[in-house]
Amino acid sequence: MRWFGWLRRGSAQVAMHAVPIMALDGRRRTPGVPYPFPVDIEETNRLDFQHYVFRYALQGIYAAPVTDPASILDVGTGTGVWAREMATHFPRAKVIGLDVNLPPTDERAGTGVGLDLRPSNYEFVPGNILEGLPFADGAFDFVHMRLLVTALPHDRWPFVVNEMVRVTRIGGWVESVEATTLEQGGPAVDMLMHWVTEMLARRGVLFSDGGAVGDLLRDAGLANITARKMLLPFGAHGDRLGMLLATDFFNGFPALGSLIVAQGIATQEQFDTTLATARADTASSQVRCLSPVYVAYGQRMR
Ligand SMILES: C[S@@+](CC[C@H](N)C(=O)[O-])C[C@H]1O[C@@H](n2cnc3c(N)ncnc32)[C@H](O)[C@@H]1O
Repeated sequence: MRWFGWLRRGSAQVAMHAVPIMALDGRRRTPGVPYPFPVDIEETNRLDFQHYVFRYALQGIYAAPVTDPASILDVGTGTGVWAREMATHFPRAKVIGLDVNLPPTDERAGTGVGLDLRPSNYEFVPGNILEGLPFADGAFDFVHMRLLVTALPHDRWPFVVNEMVRVTRIGGWVESVEATTLEQGGPAVDMLMHWVTEMLARRGVLFSDGGAVGDLLRDAGLANITARKMLLPFGAHGDRLGMLLATDFFNGFPALGSLIVAQGIATQEQFDTTLATARADTASSQVRCLSPVYVAYGQRMR
């Protein structure tokens, strides 16, 4: 039996198999949303890898002082790995992962191929956060969202955070974990950051919004806010963590090249050359590149 059917408000649901996927440069993307990364097995593997890098970097997968939550929501759950881990960590909680794209683990369930490794207290629910959350007010003890900065237009952030607060019960917690552009990586990294910032801006997305999550939670009326900025070492100077972050970045960033080129921001040759230079630069321990990560959480008190 699947839980949470009673929580849904029908109208905002996404018919997953009815959603067409458009092809761009040989990789599939999600139509109808600004999110620029592809949806394919390569990206799935990168997102799972990124989850483990973040778990290592942050020494855990959540920061809010939740102790025995009965219900947890992960907005933009990606592969669902965070939600499934939380379901295992809190076996008495019901955990929902929501995304516009069906996680491969859920897609494969019921096909008879491989084991269904989803905890029984985990469920995937399709949904587009930009259209609102398909849950009743106060339905969750803990609502979490991580790394959606490239997916949310600047002027929609207040709506998104308000939705997260709305579905959190009084006394429950909302947490947001985001990143902004790499710093101090040298001219090639700076150029890549400039290009991606421009590409996203043309979709209404401000990369710098990732650094404002604490303020956004405060503006949404949450109390007991904690907001931390961490400057993670990126590249060879950061030893193991730095190399893990660089591996994640150089696996994911090439997919943005086709969008940058399609918008006339750089040529493919400029992009490829600059990416190669950035990779070489950050492989030198002389380059002190930093990857800013922001963790913010707050409590709903009214
Ligand atoms: C960078 S991934 C992060 C995944 C996951 N939160 C994590 O940290 O591993 C961003 C996810 O947001 C999803 N997404 C993008 N736009 C969305 C929207 N409007 N509503 C719901 N999910 C969205 C994407 O499909 C993708 O799975």
